[in-house]
Amino acid sequence: MSNVSKATELSTEEINEINQEVAHYSNKSAAAIEALKIVQKHRRWVSDDSLKGIAKLLDMSADELDGVATFYNLIYRQPVGKQVIHYCDSISCWMLGSDQICQQLSDSLAIKVGETTVDGQYTLLPIVCLGDCDHAPVMMVGDTLHRNLTVTVIQKMFKHYG
Ligand code: FES
Repeated sequence: MSNVSKATELSTEEINEINQEVAHYSNKSAAAIEALKIVQKHRRWVSDDSLKGIAKLLDMSADELDGVATFYNLIYRQPVGKQVIHYCDSISCWMLGSDQICQQLSDSLAIKVGETTVDGQYTLLPIVCLGDCDHAPVMMVGDTLHRNLTVTVIQKMFKHYG
């Protein structure tokens, strides 16, 4: 990565973007989630070194910021693939077959939950209710919501992995 500051393990671009975000708040720590998202946008995940760099910029402890990152489940603290597949495992989706959807995703991609495909394309993770229970079961692939899933839909969607 170019322009990485040794002191913070963040790039100049990341630092500038975070500082712009911080300017909107009287309390720097209020920009914590946005700052984490900025770094994730550049690197796809937030490493311990990046987390320390962000915490320093926000006058927070790394532990405090890690608590925010852990609470917000769209911040990844481990490397992930180019696209993250979040299948909903909350009650409506579960009642309508999210277990089978998860199993088919696992079979089609040859990975377990929490793993990334060998080509680095997809990571499979559960997520709590995506707020689209009327169309359960649902999943997000990257930023795209997929509704009314069936095992057949999943098989077709990922048949190139078979
Ligand atoms: S339970 Fe899955 S979208 Fe609400």
